[in-house]
Amino acid sequence: MLTVFGLLSALLVYIDLYLATFIAQNLSARLRENLFDHLQRITLDWHDKQKKGDLVQRLTGNIADIEKLVNDGLVDLLAGILTLAGVAIVMSLISKPYTILSLTIAPILFLLVLGYTSGIKAATKKKAKAAGKLGDVATEDIQALTVIRAYTLEKRENKRFGLHVGSYRAAGLRAGRLQAQFTPLVSVLVVFGTIFVVGIGGYVAAGNGFSFAFVNIGASTIDVGTLILFLTYLKMLYQPMRDLSKLTTLASNGASGAERIQEVLDQAPEVLDSEEPYTGEQKLKGDITFENVFFGYTKDRTVLKGITLHIPAGRKVALVGYSGSGKTTLVKLIPRFYQLEQGSIKIDGVENSQYPLHVLRQNISMVLQDSILFEGSIRENLEIGRPGASMKLIIDAAKKANIHEMIMDMPDGYDTYVREQGNNFSAGQRQRLSIARAILRDSPILILDEPTANLDVEAESEVMHALNSLIVGRTVLTISHRLSTLGNVDEILVMSHGQIVERGTFKELKRNNGVFANLLKEQNRYSPDQEEVDSVRSIYATTSELISTTAPHMTAVTPGTSSRIAVSGNSANTSSKMQPYVSSTQNGEALEDQNGQHEAEAYREKQVQNHRETPTKAQIIVQIDGKINGKYRLSKTIFTIGRYPTSDIQIPSARVSRLHATIRWQHGAWVIQDAESLNGLTCQGQRIDQLALVNGDSISIDPTIMLHYEELRQ
Ligand SMILES: Nc1ncnc2c1ncn2[C@@H]1O[C@H](COP(=O)(O)OP(=O)(O)O)[C@@H](O)[C@H]1O
Ligand SMILES: [Mg+2]
Repeated sequence: MLTVFGLLSALLVYIDLYLATFIAQNLSARLRENLFDHLQRITLDWHDKQKKGDLVQRLTGNIADIEKLVNDGLVDLLAGILTLAGVAIVMSLISKPYTILSLTIAPILFLLVLGYTSGIKAATKKKAKAAGKLGDVATEDIQALTVIRAYTLEKRENKRFGLHVGSYRAAGLRAGRLQAQFTPLVSVLVVFGTIFVVGIGGYVAAGNGFSFAFVNIGASTIDVGTLILFLTYLKMLYQPMRDLSKLTTLASNGASGAERIQEVLDQAPEVLDSEEPYTGEQKLKGDITFENVFFGYTKDRTVLKGITLHIPAGRKVALVGYSGSGKTTLVKLIPRFYQLEQGSIKIDGVENSQYPLHVLRQNISMVLQDSILFEGSIRENLEIGRPGASMKLIIDAAKKANIHEMIMDMPDGYDTYVREQGNNFSAGQRQRLSIARAILRDSPILILDEPTANLDVEAESEVMHALNSLIVGRTVLTISHRLSTLGNVDEILVMSHGQIVERGTFKELKRNNGVFANLLKEQNRYSPDQEEVDSVRSIYATTSELISTTAPHMTAVTPGTSSRIAVSGNSANTSSKMQPYVSSTQNGEALEDQNGQHEAEAYREKQVQNHRETPTKAQIIVQIDGKINGKYRLSKTIFTIGRYPTSDIQIPSARVSRLHATIRWQHGAWVIQDAESLNGLTCQGQRIDQLALVNGDSISIDPTIMLHYEELRQ
């Protein structure tokens, strides 16, 4: 008999534990999947404001807390409640008043639970939050290890991480301390309860009556036998109370986790799909209409102010304008990444909200500034454009995107492994892979948002080449602040402060003398390829001056005022606001070709030949935080300085832009020029756009990052 019971009990324990795990695992798996799915659907708006590490912590850590509660606590909780109820019923059958007496500790216990639980809950909430912060700092720092090392920020980052570790520890300790107080307190209460019940029982059994409030126990209603029986039950009644009290922290952890998950789940998903069944075309033509579109990311600031625009199918349009004028915002509205405030956007005459999101987005390809590749093979990455595409199609697309050869040169060809975010590819290669992806997708609408902005000169031309085959036969909206990359667009739209202020062809706009003409002038401002021949001459005048004079060595270096800076005659009437449009020589050349300024071109060639002499032997010494970080011999005619490894002089710092500056041998001098940097270049306290370097010059990118120019003996 005993064996049977033993085995039965073992079997029940097995079922009990397995069931708990089964429920916990299924619950957490479903929660994770739902949360992840929801995360992908929440508006980009919300994601812009979130911290990645914290979200990951919610997805992993907080769900693990819930899982733990279910796994370790659920069975105890259920068993505890059932035992409690069962024992109370049996006891009340024997003696109601006596049962009530036994339960008198319940209200005190309840108050105790209430007080401690709220304390423990507050602590676990803090702990969960600190865990989120920890995840956040860790994610951020691991991504920025190079910068941390370059700046020797290890100690500072340890401190920052330590701060959150500290608050996590403190919150954990507080929860632990409260729990450590709570559990024995419950035990003490149980002991008092037992003494109380036994005392009264003994008293009654001895022949006395007991009456208190609504409890009346007649004299001798209980004998010693019942008392002993009751004692056994009492133990069974109090044990689950004790057990449950131990679960408080576990339950609070789970509850805090659940709250943090709920917070995410409460966020509204992205623009809702239209309810009506869709019966229209799957493949659209690509005719785009904006009608009086107003939009702002926040309520208090409108970014797009009444955009009205019609782009017939197959037309190629460029969007240009100052940084922050709303170009990216405008194109993001076409695939409905954000909800409009007012107005409508129609594709093929139907409002884009009428299309199911997947139909709408299938018809739009985007190539953005930074292309994201996923972990997996090259083939898999290209296949994203068209799932299930044949190898032939993929190779075709790669060829058109100018990347097939590069892929074939890799040891595993199309099976080459792409590391996280495509780190093992250069920016130009990533861009061409994403163009191949877009070619495969073959959608009628193509959006290019500064696809070449992060590339160096050679990579840019390769990408432009790849783009040429992509744009054929599609409606193209291209954003570019390098006017040279506009190529052969049908029309240029000029944006300023959220409005389209000009539109027309390159020539019309140039003649118009408006915003576009200004942009153009700005781009040509520092380029030797000026429109007017005399301004070309003036550049050479300045540079030859520069060659011949050695003193005064350094004066103010504001563009247009210094003799050392090669500036054109156009700079006087342009505002400093337009500085992001400083272009490189290549851009200037492309513009010249478009304008047919061949005379100027020929003149320049001649001049350059006259001036071309062997470059001065020199080097750039990069100093970070007072320490020499590297020396770079100026061994070719164009040197790029930037944050990325593709730069000739790489400075891995967040303060340095991707393509921060260039140094070129120009008309007999090494000239440093701000590319499209955020922080610019400073020389002796003045921001400079372009400066012909003189031996001993120091240029700073940031107070901690210096570039020293040093000429070497011939
Ligand atoms: N996700 C965002 N949340 C809030 N404001 C934004 C967001 N993206 C852009 N903005 C703001 O909207 C304006 C237009 O930005 P954007 O369309 O990116 O300009 P452009 O592409 O022309 O440089 C800017 O002032 C910018 O600060
Ligand atoms: Mg933009």
